[in-house]
Amino acid sequence: MTVNRRVPRLRDLAPLIRFDKPRFNRRRRLEAAQTIHDLRRIAKRRTPKAAFDYTDGAAEDELSIERARQAFREIEFHPSILRDVTTVRAGWEVLGQPVALPFGIAPTGFTRLMHTEGEIAGARAAASAGIPFSLSTLGTASIEDVAAAIPESRKWFQLYMWRDRDRSMALVRRAADAGFDTLMVTVDVPVAGARLRDIRNGMTIPPALTARTVLDALRHPTWWFDLVTTEPLAFASLQRWPGTVGEYLDTMFDPSVTFADLAWIKTQWPGKLVVKGIQTLEDARKVVDAGADGIVLSNHGGRQLDRAPVPFHLLPSVAREVGKHTEILLDTGIMSGADIVAAIALGARFTLVGRAYLYGLMAGGEAGVHRAIEILSGQLTRTMRLLGVTCLEELSPKHVTQLRRLLPISPASR
Ligand SMILES: Cc1cc2nc3c(=O)[nH]c(=O)nc-3n(C[C@H](O)[C@H](O)[C@H](O)COP(=O)(O)O)c2cc1C
Repeated sequence: MTVNRRVPRLRDLAPLIRFDKPRFNRRRRLEAAQTIHDLRRIAKRRTPKAAFDYTDGAAEDELSIERARQAFREIEFHPSILRDVTTVRAGWEVLGQPVALPFGIAPTGFTRLMHTEGEIAGARAAASAGIPFSLSTLGTASIEDVAAAIPESRKWFQLYMWRDRDRSMALVRRAADAGFDTLMVTVDVPVAGARLRDIRNGMTIPPALTARTVLDALRHPTWWFDLVTTEPLAFASLQRWPGTVGEYLDTMFDPSVTFADLAWIKTQWPGKLVVKGIQTLEDARKVVDAGADGIVLSNHGGRQLDRAPVPFHLLPSVAREVGKHTEILLDTGIMSGADIVAAIALGARFTLVGRAYLYGLMAGGEAGVHRAIEILSGQLTRTMRLLGVTCLEELSPKHVTQLRRLLPISPASR
């Protein structure tokens, strides 16, 4: 076909032209991010390589995290039509108290490395969204500072058992005194996973000034300015350590912790007790027998055992077997609100986000965490509406199927 062409006239083009004055501020940059992947891209640009890799990376060949994310991509949703979804309620009760959304912030160590605002930014953003914030044993803000930042909101404390039991339990007492309502004991770190990116980058605590890091400072001046003009970077509850994170963890962690210790910890803690890092149905049963109020199906975001079971694949059988006796939480690989909807539909009571929050933090401090939560909750409520459900209680396994490619073929983890 022949198309008749003509010279473009300015009069016709004028209504199409929308040249906004460029504004390079933080709010605009964050508003432009539509997904957690967008926030990750901004985070990567704004953060020195060693700090970004510490967050983004995982253990060995990084297959655990890759597969966990892949598993979420391989779900299929089954919507119901012609339901009135004008109003949607995405909150309910978790571990005895209300949450506004079915996800919270996972405990992450060394958070001020990602952005100087660190844990306090995460805690404030979580509090304003009505969701719990978890503080890690390896946090870079103290228990008391987090409590002072969000006195009225839900705070969970994550415990690593150290060789020095008295010091571990002193932290637990401080968390109870500061009003933390849940203790989350992480059990998938008998030794540190092999985070190869950290070793290759020579990641130390605090970052050492080497020729490489000084060069890096030229490319990330804001991050380095923050580092040298704020409180020195160190674990709030521990002393400084000159080696890699992995080496540090290995000197501290107690590889002899067993189920008996769990029962003992329970006697020391007045609030709810959750065990994080469950990776088999058998261990889920044992932990429930030991008296846990909740379990977190998790492989630590792929940062410990590589080629570990995908927590999302474990969920249906664990929900069936122990769901009546305990609350099931899930993490690892969540990059979208739709992932959270799928987890709730298959029997999780709650989910945790680690990197999704940290990408937001690296992209823009507290405002970046707000944006990450906003993106996840927008995706979550939109997915619920499109599925034809108005509250979390209406979600059920009929809404989700798993497409075949990554499903385990051996019965071990089913
Ligand atoms: C940078 C980083 C530090 C972490 N530090 C801890 C920690 O100190 N204690 C802990 O129990 N889990 C820790 N985790 C694991 C998270 O709590 C969570 O299980 C994991 O991030 C979930 O996977 P996701 O990042 O895909 O959301 C860390 C994860 C990341 C990414």
